[in-house]
Amino acid sequence: MDNLQPCPREPERTGPTIAVYPGTFDPITNGHLDIVGRALGLFDRVIIAVAINVRKKPLFSLDERIKLIRQCFDPEETRVRVDATDGLIVDYAISQGACALVRGLRAVSDFDYELQLALMNRKLAREVDTVFLMTGFRWIYISSSIIKDAAKHNGDVSGLVPVHVEEALKSIYELHDNKGKQRQK
Ligand code: COA
Repeated sequence: MDNLQPCPREPERTGPTIAVYPGTFDPITNGHLDIVGRALGLFDRVIIAVAINVRKKPLFSLDERIKLIRQCFDPEETRVRVDATDGLIVDYAISQGACALVRGLRAVSDFDYELQLALMNRKLAREVDTVFLMTGFRWIYISSSIIKDAAKHNGDVSGLVPVHVEEALKSIYELHDNKGKQRQK
């Protein structure tokens, strides 16, 4: 056991334990909310950080995504904060005094990417650990893309996203449809 190397940490962390839950959230789903609920069981505070994934071109603007997330929580719920960041997520976590990044795992298929992300984040900042939480079984098959795909083709996504997100999806796709129709005239 002599060669065990503990991670360098702040000597005595005081105050509340804070976790950052980063993602694109385009849009937030019940699966994401399930992860937030689980994280609140482990940490005093959770910051949902809408971050930039260079490989994604979101449907909802940053402001819309933030608004949709905020609407999921009672304004009295002071343990959850919603924020945006355009830099490195570990830098953001450190700036917020967070000790962990939270990521949800659904299936084995998530693992490779999540491992790569977690190891890169550890390389960038060893003091911030990544904590993986298993998504509730009911949400194991959903993703923001699959929800958007279903909604775009008039599929029923009720029960998979909060009602206000369902409405936002409907109105955004109706808007797109109408624009298409106008163009055809
Ligand atoms: N329920 C439902 N869906 C879930 C889920 C859950 N519990 N957990 C993951 N997903 C889905 C998401 O809906 C998303 O689906 P999509 O691909 O269809 O949109 C997918 O799994 C994973 O996306 P998400 O969790 O939003 O993460 P991401 O891969 O888009 O975001 C960032 C990654 C933003 C966290 C990462 O790019 C980042 O940290 N960027 C900032 C820059 C940085 O520091 N980069 C890393 C080091 S270089």
